[in-house]
Amino acid sequence: MYAIKVENLVRKFADFTAVDDLSFSIKKGEVFGLLGPNGAGKTTTMSMLSTMLPPSSGKASVNGFDILKDQDNVRKSIGIVFQDQSLDEELTAYENMDFHGRLYRIPKRARQKKITELLKLVELFDKKDNLVKTYSGGMRRRLEIARGLMHEPQVLFLDEPTLGLDPQTRNHLWDYIDRLNKEKGITIILTTHYMEEADKLCHRIAIIDKGRIIAMDTSENLKNDIGGDVITLVSPERDALYSAIKSMPEIKSIELHDSSITIGIQNAEKHVANIVNIASANDIEIKSLSIHKPTLEDVFLHFTGRTIREEEASSKDQMRMMRKAGRR
Ligand SMILES: Nc1ncnc2c1ncn2[C@@H]1O[C@H](COP(=O)(O)OP(=O)(O)O)[C@@H](O)[C@H]1O
Ligand SMILES: [Mg+2]
Repeated sequence: MYAIKVENLVRKFADFTAVDDLSFSIKKGEVFGLLGPNGAGKTTTMSMLSTMLPPSSGKASVNGFDILKDQDNVRKSIGIVFQDQSLDEELTAYENMDFHGRLYRIPKRARQKKITELLKLVELFDKKDNLVKTYSGGMRRRLEIARGLMHEPQVLFLDEPTLGLDPQTRNHLWDYIDRLNKEKGITIILTTHYMEEADKLCHRIAIIDKGRIIAMDTSENLKNDIGGDVITLVSPERDALYSAIKSMPEIKSIELHDSSITIGIQNAEKHVANIVNIASANDIEIKSLSIHKPTLEDVFLHFTGRTIREEEASSKDQMRMMRKAGRR
């Protein structure tokens, strides 16, 4: 049996289609990622699967329970940590956990035991009696994850779990998520627009753009799909360089970006000298040249012709964090 099975799921807002015919299955024990830029439809998908938003059409089951016909059982069997879900600032970590445990009617003794276990797991037990308003961003996120695990869910939903956190805190959180999966066998579905996060955590990744899955596989297979290596060239005479080399027969794909050119090519190191020779024969300066194995960014570019804009995304993150801070 699958942990999650999604068939032709669609969600429209008026005449805008936010989620467009998604189908995928997640095996028990798997860490599955929805990777895509802002507005791709990730949160909408998670909201439907967690029964918070009804689909326009299509169907899905979570832990064998239908998201339309069996909402109570779906909710009982999942833990959710959503982007805008907030903790009660004026309560301590322990009190936040306790409140959640009561909502799920966990008896007092079991609740106390569970809270202790989970706060230790996310290394917040020492700070359990501090008010959440004194917590850092990373501590809050850890507490939210601990809270989402109170009722021992089989599947954990994480919507952009490290959004807006600094790289060190992000790394730390990745370790917790990885441990939850490995040590507790929890199936995890997460969304992210951070390529590195998907690469690091997910067994399989669905790349999603404009509500559609454009590619789905292991990170390794997705990268192999591009066929070969990636050469990135930076030159003040970008257009001239592009024209000079674009007809090289070995080149599988070539794309122009703001200040660089990227080339998809097999055995890149064999052809680099040739590219440099062509440039110098045409009196074109090459500022820098690098060869790398394809990343998920290259995969996204390959399938969409665009990049998942990290800068744009991070400025949106900051706005979101500022809005959150302002709400307090
Ligand atoms: N309640 C809503 N009403 C109208 N449009 C919405 C609503 N929720 C989401 N959208 C739109 O649907 C698209 C997908 O949103 P979302 O699922 O939040 O994307 P992501 O989580 O990938 O950033 C966006 O264009 C967003 O503006
Ligand atoms: Mg989102």
